[in-house]
Amino acid sequence: MARRILLAGAGGQLGRSLREVLADRELHPRTRDELDIASLDAVRDAVAQIEPDLVVNAAAYNAVDAAEEDPEAAYSGNALGPRNLAVATAGRAIPLLHVSTDYVFDGRGARPYHEYDRPAPRTAYGKSKLAGEDAVRSINPRHYIVRTAWLYHPDGKNFANTIVGLADRGEVRVVSDQYGSPTYVPHLATGIAQLVDSEAYGTYHIVNAGEASWFDFASALYAELDLDAAVLPVSTAEFPRPAERPRYSVLTSIQQPRVELPHWKDGVRAFAAAKRG
Ligand SMILES: NC(=O)c1ccc[n+]([C@@H]2O[C@H](COP(=O)([O-])OP(=O)(O)OC[C@H]3O[C@@H](n4cnc5c(N)ncnc54)[C@H](OP(=O)(O)O)[C@@H]3O)[C@@H](O)[C@H]2O)c1
Repeated sequence: MARRILLAGAGGQLGRSLREVLADRELHPRTRDELDIASLDAVRDAVAQIEPDLVVNAAAYNAVDAAEEDPEAAYSGNALGPRNLAVATAGRAIPLLHVSTDYVFDGRGARPYHEYDRPAPRTAYGKSKLAGEDAVRSINPRHYIVRTAWLYHPDGKNFANTIVGLADRGEVRVVSDQYGSPTYVPHLATGIAQLVDSEAYGTYHIVNAGEASWFDFASALYAELDLDAAVLPVSTAEFPRPAERPRYSVLTSIQQPRVELPHWKDGVRAFAAAKRG
């Protein structure tokens, strides 16, 4: 069992949930201020000092639209960062768990993507995340790469909190022709905790079960939180963004061991319960 764990990106949504689910281990959480994974020297120093028997990377550059204007920033956090972690761990035979995204797929399919489907990212963010996956795979054979999607946490910058914050407008318009896998971060953290001692290295899709459009997701949030506002469906064409979004990026898993999370509507219920306090 991994006892001493270095957790990078500990201040983010996933980082904070992992701190809770891995609290029974000797955890060394590092926020961005404490460890910038884009610095090879800093990463090497942290690994040498802590001597972990597992490194978990929850750090990432997640500004999907801004990445189109500033791809260097995206590659720094999402490609160079995980590459540095892979370099620092591979020589010491330390396993590395790295987190990636549904946006590595082009979203033009008609069925959920599994782990052996071929990525074809269409955005700077997706390309930078795939470059990070490739670096981890090629440098450290003891890797778990966990792809996940549409993350939300009661306390974080995410679609769920944004849309809930708009309810006092009385009416919100939400895209209804993009489908994905809304995933409640505390559920994802539990899935990751199941994986870390398996030594079954490879790529995993870990998301809440089922599929939803952003419109479905928003409607479920409003219903669960009893918010009195109309949710109106709009098309992608009516809501252009700087970075193209995958039309259909639902994830499924055929990997073993199986890591299954509850249905996404259970995630919405848990989120609503946490928001109500
Ligand atoms: N959010 C989603 O919807 C989503 C969807 C699919 C996959 N993912 C993936 O899931 C993982 C966790 O995402 P999340 O939602 O928890 O992200 P998050 O809340 O944005 O947290 C990411 C954390 O990484 C930090 N960070 C950024 N660059 C760093 C660097 N160079 N060195 C160290 N730390 C750095 C950020 O710090 P600052 O805030 O100070 O920049 C932030 O605390 C990421 O790999 C992400 O790509 C997320």
